[in-house]
Amino acid sequence: MKLLEEVQLKLVSSLKGKDLLTLLDYTSEEVQDLIKLATQLKTITKAGKCPRLLEGKTLGMIFEKQSTRTRISFEVGMNQLGGKAMFMHSRDLQIGRGEPISDTGHVLSGYLDAIMIRANSHEMVKELAEHASVPVINGLTDLYHPCQALADLETIAENKGELKGLKIAYVGDGNNVAHSLVAAAAHVGMDVVVATPSGYEPNEAVIAMAQKIAKENGSLVTVTNDPVTAVKDADAVYADVWTSMGQEEETAKRLVDFEGYQINDELVAHAKPDYMFLHCLPAHREEEVATSVIDGPNSYIFEQAENRLHAQKAVLVSILA
Ligand code: CP
Ligand code: NVA
Repeated sequence: MKLLEEVQLKLVSSLKGKDLLTLLDYTSEEVQDLIKLATQLKTITKAGKCPRLLEGKTLGMIFEKQSTRTRISFEVGMNQLGGKAMFMHSRDLQIGRGEPISDTGHVLSGYLDAIMIRANSHEMVKELAEHASVPVINGLTDLYHPCQALADLETIAENKGELKGLKIAYVGDGNNVAHSLVAAAAHVGMDVVVATPSGYEPNEAVIAMAQKIAKENGSLVTVTNDPVTAVKDADAVYADVWTSMGQEEETAKRLVDFEGYQINDELVAHAKPDYMFLHCLPAHREEEVATSVIDGPNSYIFEQAENRLHAQKAVLVSILA
C-alpha cells in the first residue's frame, strides 16, 4: 500500500481477478481508467520508479502464433513490476498433442497467477478462461486484440488530450484489430468509421455491441466500403495488414480485393492536417500503407508499439495486484 500511496496510482480495482478476453466485456469507465493508468505507469517507469506490485507473481504466456511486441512487452512489463513471465509455444505443450484446453486451464491454474494467450480461435480462449481459476488475458485471437486497442487509445490520448469527440478511421480488413479498436473507441466516446472492401466487413455482432456502447457515450460506429468517407476529417487513421496470420493462402486474392484501400498521401489528404497515423505492426509497406505515410511526420507507430508495454502493465496490475 505504501508504494501505491507514494506514486498515487489508481488501479482499476473492479478488474481484480477478471479475465481480459474482449473490451466489450468491460465497462466504459474501466477502459477509460485503464488508459489513464497506462499513461501514469509510463511516466513513473520513465522516472525509474515503477512499483514492484507483482513481486512473486508469474504470468504464463501461451503462443500459437508468432509475436514480437506482445511477447516482449508482456515479459518486460512483468519484470518491471517485480514478477516473472514464462513463454510457452503451444507446440511444446501437451495441447500441441491434443490434451484438452480445459485440462490445461485447470493444471496451469495450479502454478500460475495469470495466463496470457495468443491463439487461433477465440472460442478456444473462452474455453481456457472457463476452466482456469486464474485470470486469462487475450494476446490476440481471430476475433479480438484488446491489448493492442488499449495501447492505441493511450497513444491518441497522450498526443491529443481528450479522446471523446475525436474521429478515428480504420481502413482495411474487418479483422481482430478492427474489432478491438471499434470496441475501445466506443468506450471512450470516439466516432469510429471502418472502411473495408465488400466481403471483408467486420463481424456484425461485434459492431452491434460497439454501437450500443458508443451510443451511451455519445458517439457513432459506422461501417462503409468507401475509404474516403471514412478518412474525411479524421483525427486518426489506422491500418493493419490485409492478410492476417493464418490466412497466408489467401494473400494473392486479398492483394486484388484490397486494391484501392491503401492508406496513401491521396487518401490521408482527406483527414485533418494534424491526423495521427497508427498501425498495430508488423506492416507491409506499399501494401496497406504507403511508405510516405507510415514513415512520414504524422506517423506514431513506434510510440504506439512502446505503449503496448504501458497499457499491458495497467491491465496486469489491475487484474493481479
Ligand atoms: N501488434 C502486435 O500484436 O504485434 P506482435 O504480433 O509482434 O505481437
Ligand atoms: N491482424 C493481424 C494483427 C497482427 C498483430 C493478425 O492477426 O495477424
